[in-house]
Amino acid sequence: MALQRTFAIIKPRAIKNGHVGEIISAIEREGFTLHGLRMVHLNKELIKGFYLEHVHKTFYSELEESMLEGPVLLMVIEGEDAILRWREIMGVTDPAKAAPGTLRRKFGDDLTRNAVHGSDAASTAEREVHHFFSAFDLV
Ligand code: RTP
Ligand code: MG
Repeated sequence: MALQRTFAIIKPRAIKNGHVGEIISAIEREGFTLHGLRMVHLNKELIKGFYLEHVHKTFYSELEESMLEGPVLLMVIEGEDAILRWREIMGVTDPAKAAPGTLRRKFGDDLTRNAVHGSDAASTAEREVHHFFSAFDLV
């Protein structure tokens, strides 16, 4: 076990649906601590830089549209094995296939509007955190 930081997003539709409090409660209940928190309305350029690996995929335009739908909440969270554990708490990508009790199952609307994001590896977490946060924004 190692103390890690990971990058998480509460996506626009989950904010619109009023799930911010419940998702942050889950983060705290699981023993994570918050080290960065920013609410922003993203633009196409920021989304493209963030989702670089998906830009050429067929679902990209729908993904982009869903991320422009309203503001997002960007978070840096820390805990033991945070990267893997946050992915487990989120559940798999498609809310319909995610295990009962996971955030995507509880709060996701569909495959695209699946409530939350989490980095998938240490190198990704590092890149994603610095895509959105300066050292000054992190505590
Ligand atoms: P994320 O990066 O958001 O934590 O999600 P993930 O690793 O579980 O899924 P990934 O394959 O990285 O996909 C990124 C986001 O793109 C949307 N998506 N749509 N329509 C589709 O086939 C499709 N597949 C993925 C989802 O919003 C997913 O979270
Ligand atoms: Mg991913």
